[in-house]
Amino acid sequence: MANGEMDEFVERVRSQSDILSVVSRYVPLKKKGNNYWGCCPFHQEKTPSFSVAPSKGFFYCFGCHAGGDSFKFLSLIENISYFEAIKLQAERLHIPMPQRQKSPQEIERDRRIADLRKVNSMARDFFHNCLTMTHYGEAGKAYLASRGISQETIEEFQMGFAPDAWDKLTRAFLKRGVTMELLLEAGLVSQGKDSSNIYDRFRNRVIIPIADERGRVVGFGGRVLDDGTPKYLNTPETILFNKRRLLFGLDKSGRAIQQAGHAIVVEGYMDAISVYGAGVRNVVASLGTAFTAEHCRKLLRYTSRVCFCYDSDEAGQAATVRAFSVARDAGVEVRVIVIPEGKDPDEYIRKHGAKAFEALVQKAIPLVEYRMQYVLKHTAYDTLEGKVKALHEILPVLRGIRDAAELAEYRKKLARILMLDEGVILSEMRNGAGVPEPQAHSGRSGRRSAARSQDNALKRAGRIVIRMACRDASVLAHIRGMLPLEGIYDAAHHEILAFLFAQQEQGKTFDDAAAAEILGDEAMAELSRSLVENLEGREETEAYHDSVNILRRAYLNARFMQHSRQAEEYLQSGNPAYRDELAEVKKIKEEMDELQVSDTERRS
Ligand code: GTP
Ligand code: MN
Repeated sequence: MANGEMDEFVERVRSQSDILSVVSRYVPLKKKGNNYWGCCPFHQEKTPSFSVAPSKGFFYCFGCHAGGDSFKFLSLIENISYFEAIKLQAERLHIPMPQRQKSPQEIERDRRIADLRKVNSMARDFFHNCLTMTHYGEAGKAYLASRGISQETIEEFQMGFAPDAWDKLTRAFLKRGVTMELLLEAGLVSQGKDSSNIYDRFRNRVIIPIADERGRVVGFGGRVLDDGTPKYLNTPETILFNKRRLLFGLDKSGRAIQQAGHAIVVEGYMDAISVYGAGVRNVVASLGTAFTAEHCRKLLRYTSRVCFCYDSDEAGQAATVRAFSVARDAGVEVRVIVIPEGKDPDEYIRKHGAKAFEALVQKAIPLVEYRMQYVLKHTAYDTLEGKVKALHEILPVLRGIRDAAELAEYRKKLARILMLDEGVILSEMRNGAGVPEPQAHSGRSGRRSAARSQDNALKRAGRIVIRMACRDASVLAHIRGMLPLEGIYDAAHHEILAFLFAQQEQGKTFDDAAAAEILGDEAMAELSRSLVENLEGREETEAYHDSVNILRRAYLNARFMQHSRQAEEYLQSGNPAYRDELAEVKKIKEEMDELQVSDTERRS
């Protein structure tokens, strides 16, 4: 296609686009003078400052200063590029795109994609038929029934079953003319070390087809029927299957998300299926990976409010906290659905029903609230050091609050809980982001800089421990013995160590590509820093042992305070259990006294 043709196309779309009808599709407008007015869709407001000038073909918001032509408006509201907006508008106006001459590579790629789509949809039908129409499916049916998944839900999601055999799918598909090459590319068959050893990838598993937002199957998840491992087996990465982009269920839930005004994001597709099956339809699942900016962009087409409903275990909490920064940066309002009793959404909804789950959704708490609870639970904030630390963990979310009244509210609340002066919080907020660096000659009070240098010492120690753990997996057992995860108070370090432990459990050695895939930005930065930071001349093992001891001391210190407090409470209420608490305190104290930290570290 010549350039001129393209220009002509754009001009044609532009001249036929009427900004008033483009905008009115999304924003109710009222005429006042020559212009039209409404509430701006790009920021929160109660009185209209968003204007459209039909004669000029422009919109402008006097509140947030967004402005431009119809295409700009579409690109902002649909979260798509300017050119995509032109194409969208052309589609709506039924103006055909000029056909471009494709390069041979593009033609080849289109063909591969078309083939992959076709074989995926064949596989979906194959698995679905196995489940619903053959005797192979009995075990799968029984499993799904035991999880309370109805016939209707099985149909809705076209769930299936992979027979307990090595080549059922391979043979059936080869017979139907599908090439082995395509089966391999689609990840439907796997190849052993000996390349002639080829077998069905999915065997004896319940199959969940995974579709893109337009409902086209791009891959599969398979769940074992028992406690076997891996619990879930997914399609490997293909040109179509990219977990960082896919949100399971979005093809079905998009409309419900728009209607509800928010999306519920769960961790696993089984959770999404269960929640959806129970009638709560505005749900999607990230496919067991972190919630990414791409996920966020996808959701923004439907809503700017997201409720995370991850497992209430440590990993789920860490994932939620990480998802926040992604969502906040994209301008999404985040709430968290907290499920009691440590259950996941599927377990909860099965036990208590959809009504009870909806009630939890109603009670979803704002991000700040959740972050506060999380940090306060993981930080011993009864010492000055602890308070400063907790404050610094919470500050980033406080800084994200745009509404002044709301911010003041949270500042007060935090000041009350931490028993800090509000002025301290205010000045810390102004002090820029991140963890404070040591400030040798600042005018700060001695007490405060003591807290800071303690904080820095813990961070440094954490990095040294992480560095060793990455280099030599055999120290992980030692770390686990000395430092339970709940005793790692630094969020990034917590995340990194949890990752290293998980890798080890899966028999994997440290792999920075896997780390980059799984860890959040903050943790990744901290991990890189751990690996490159110099030890200032100290011997590696010595530095490691000192560091473990420093962290253990902090952990013991926190437990010491916790049990002392509990003992005191019991004593006051006349509960004889105070004796047990005191015994615990004594034990901790003894260990603290024994812990030797070498002089080099103590001086710094
Ligand atoms: P059920 O035990 O079937 O209820 O699964 P769940 O949804 O409670 O799973 P879990 O919380 O253990 O994991 C959540 C998500 O992480 C899953 O949906 C998967 O996407 C992913 N996941 C969990 N285990 C595995 C695994 O062994 N391999 C892979 N690739 N992904 C996993
Ligand atoms: Mn579950």
